Amino acid sequence: MCGIVGYIGHREATPIILAGLKRLEYRGYDSAGIALIERHHTNGNHVPSTNSATLSIRKCKGKVNQLEDLIRNMPKTSMLGIGHTRWATHGAPSDINSHPHTDQTGRIAIIHNGIIENYSAIKETLVERGHHFESETDTEVLAHLIGEFYGDGRNLTEAVRLALNEVIGAYGVAVVSKDSPDEIVCARKGSPIVIGVGDNENFIASDAAAIVSYTRNVIYLSDNEIATITRDSVKTRTIGDVEVTKDVEAITIKLEEIEKGGYEHFMLKEIHEQPSTVRDAMRGRVIEEEGSIVLGGLRNHLPRLRNAKRILITACGTSYHAALIGKYMLEQLAQIPVDVEYASEFRYRNPVVTEGDVMFVISQSGETADTLAAMREAKRKGALALGIVNVVGSTIARESDGGVYIHAGPEIGVASTKAFTSQVTVFALLSIMLGRMKSLSVVDGKELIRALLALPGQINQILESSEPVIQEIVKEFKDADHFLYLGRGYNYPVALEGALKLKEISYIHAEGYPAAEMKHGPIALIDNDMPVVVIAPHDDVYEKVLSNIQEVRARGGRLIIIASDSDKRIEKLAEKVIRIPETISMLLPILSVIPLQLLSYYMARERGANVDQPRNLAKSVTVE
Ligand code: AGP
Ligand code: GLU
Repeated sequence: MCGIVGYIGHREATPIILAGLKRLEYRGYDSAGIALIERHHTNGNHVPSTNSATLSIRKCKGKVNQLEDLIRNMPKTSMLGIGHTRWATHGAPSDINSHPHTDQTGRIAIIHNGIIENYSAIKETLVERGHHFESETDTEVLAHLIGEFYGDGRNLTEAVRLALNEVIGAYGVAVVSKDSPDEIVCARKGSPIVIGVGDNENFIASDAAAIVSYTRNVIYLSDNEIATITRDSVKTRTIGDVEVTKDVEAITIKLEEIEKGGYEHFMLKEIHEQPSTVRDAMRGRVIEEEGSIVLGGLRNHLPRLRNAKRILITACGTSYHAALIGKYMLEQLAQIPVDVEYASEFRYRNPVVTEGDVMFVISQSGETADTLAAMREAKRKGALALGIVNVVGSTIARESDGGVYIHAGPEIGVASTKAFTSQVTVFALLSIMLGRMKSLSVVDGKELIRALLALPGQINQILESSEPVIQEIVKEFKDADHFLYLGRGYNYPVALEGALKLKEISYIHAEGYPAAEMKHGPIALIDNDMPVVVIAPHDDVYEKVLSNIQEVRARGGRLIIIASDSDKRIEKLAEKVIRIPETISMLLPILSVIPLQLLSYYMARERGANVDQPRNLAKSVTVE
């Protein structure tokens, strides 16, 4: 999910590649690297020998300027190269796991964005054939697979194409070879690649921001397409080997807009990424035909998990809200008692932790000080600590005994959105996995998985349909000083999350409550100045929530209701209704939170707040 830049033409490649990688730094990354092909001078009119070029690679964990130090003394004559900024998914950030990776002969170099789901199976086959791997990455496996196909009369494009036909997963790749020193091969499936068309020079990038200062004429590769790029030509085919004619388009938006994917803010971009990030959280982990789940990072802890007498979950902020939903899921499907703890409270309370306890540690950044301290305290008292983390190789990920990465990609906006839905998705996977190790049947497992796999499309449906009514709500309530958010069951934590989102980016005071709790005091707050957001989709507690809605109506509260598409009763009860698709109760939070994320975003924007960097807040609270 990170940065790719490539160049082939009449200029020195290195400065163009480095400048492009710097343009992509805003996305967040952990390593950087570059591969350069340098042609030797041919003597006279001899045909260049096979070793008419050299391939040089420099790469390191850290920032692009550290890479710059590494390549300072490299020859400056190369006019063909590819560069990468890595956002680790397989293998912690390290020099050896950084890209580019080479094949077994060292003549091919590849950079890759995305996830090769079946890399383990491919790696096993290649090891049996005598391949040795240096890194822990899925990408190096792809490099060796290409190497297997390369040669024997096959050109680089054909070798890449055949290898990608063996691959399951998401990729944006660029490949060069010292034996094909006049071309770059790139391909995409699920991770963007754009080709910049210049004058006797061509560029590639994962994001147009990296190349727009050199050319605004671009070719957008589509999924399952592969391109062979020389300095004066771009030829495209499908990976099924059918020639494709692509249009050259002119980029008209400004650089700053490009970095945000054309969205006004990173937060809105990340809200709209959720169909693909929820899909990425499931990628390679679902075994539909068995109605079960595989979470590789937990494989050494399954007996301990299965026999756990209690599960602890600790987190802060939005991750804490995801943890509350995880509790409901685990108790429902795996019948294991779960205690959820604010990390800041847990760490100082002298908590009772027994040997058999398992603690899940939830953190997008993997660096939150309170959460890290709570994990250390639980480990000190004998608990097994398992992380559910976004940033690979982060402190919590490294110090935990194992865990599951949520694969949401870099989350830039301070207000956490896509990480939340990916955390909840991982909890659903975990609960199904543990449930299927206990009393959950294969039939029920399959039904849950079917509902999970439908989520990306359903999120898309909400994103495409809910914004007009949200804009109306913003216009109506932008001057409100207080909001109440109510939900029950699985949607009670969503009420907390919706209130937090509104507070932290629009600075409007908001409280989330269990809907039934209103009558124990907070209902005294209700009057016709109080907007009350109620999450009331068709679920196991729908009728109960309707009663709570009537209680609010009776006191003049102004109701904004999140309701199911098919709900015919709700219109007459609410001032505004935002519709979401039907799904099983357990997965409703992944849908019901989307309108609340959008509501907080548009409210903050309307009020002129700094949406991506709200006042007083940091993206990762690494201090107490
Ligand atoms: C959520 O929008 C906030 N940015 C904040 O509550 C955040 O969830 C909390 O600081 C925990 O961060 P973590 O997930 O990186 O540990
Ligand atoms: N899966 C690859 C890795 O972990 C690519 C990660 C990325 O998208 O940057 O190295």
